[in-house]
Amino acid sequence: ALPHVFVARRIPDFGLEKMAKYADLDIWPEQLPPAPEVLRQKVKNCEGLVSLLTDRVDASVMDAAPKLRIISNFAVGVNNVDIPAATARKIPIGNTPGVLTEATADIAMTLMLAASRRLTESCEDAKAGRWKTWEPLGWIGQELQGRTLGIVGMGRIGHALARRCHFGWGMKVIYTSRSPKPESDQELQARQVQMSELLQESDFVSVHCDLNETTKGLFGAEQFAQMRSHVVFVNTSRGPVVDQTALAQALRSQKIFAAGLDVTDPEPLPPTHELYSLSNCVIAPHIASATVPTRNAMARICAENLIAGLTGQKMTSCVNPEVPTRQS
Ligand code: GLV
Ligand code: GLV
Repeated sequence: ALPHVFVARRIPDFGLEKMAKYADLDIWPEQLPPAPEVLRQKVKNCEGLVSLLTDRVDASVMDAAPKLRIISNFAVGVNNVDIPAATARKIPIGNTPGVLTEATADIAMTLMLAASRRLTESCEDAKAGRWKTWEPLGWIGQELQGRTLGIVGMGRIGHALARRCHFGWGMKVIYTSRSPKPESDQELQARQVQMSELLQESDFVSVHCDLNETTKGLFGAEQFAQMRSHVVFVNTSRGPVVDQTALAQALRSQKIFAAGLDVTDPEPLPPTHELYSLSNCVIAPHIASATVPTRNAMARICAENLIAGLTGQKMTSCVNPEVPTRQS
């Protein structure tokens, strides 16, 4: 018999078809994620779990699934999975890096431009009849050309955004990172700096770090206070990296010029949230990887990781490679 695998949401068929050759799939049919107790019940007899960033995979889920030997997360970010708990149980975790780099950098670029040029605000004004004439002093925004971009977390996605900005808009690139990035320094004449320098020097700040205990609340009142008043702040990483109360305050008081967010805390951000009422805040519903080629590629890697985990092969991308591979 094929091993049982719970797939916590429909992902592109491309991935499901691959998985179905190796596993007996139980695919959650609903639009919304399974509730925690449902997830725990669903994984009971499973050897594999395909989770999404909206599924919290903690020790209680792993303990409910004594046969579990692979968690394949349909995302590059894995903050939804308790990594130490999985490693302690010798469960490898797969993720989908690389394939969503360009699509995510595109959304960061889109948000930078949209927030700089007040696109959503002006489009809404036009639609609502507030476009009375060509306005010499209306809807005036910021320009990217030749300005300084501060990248927080110079990984694959940060580099891809920096490349767009450097070659497309002649921007100067500075960044913070845990390790030096000689390729970025060389290709983009980028320079690694301390956070305080980045905050003080940047005209645009874009966040690309992952969410963990050290990056939670990384952007708060103190950080926004150090930024220039014309700064456009972009976040395509994870919502909790930003203290949203502090961000809303900085936007409301025009301490910074604008923000573009593809991620929030919580997700979905309730429609009554203050950030939606601020005309200088552009909010997208976590769509960075939402393109046909990217979602298909994510489904492929997610399937490859699942199959490798089930068959004891080396995974395409494993978050905790210290877990030994095993046949069954
Ligand atoms: C999306 O946010 C991902 O982590 O893949
Ligand atoms: C604007 O439309 C211009 O012609 O300057």
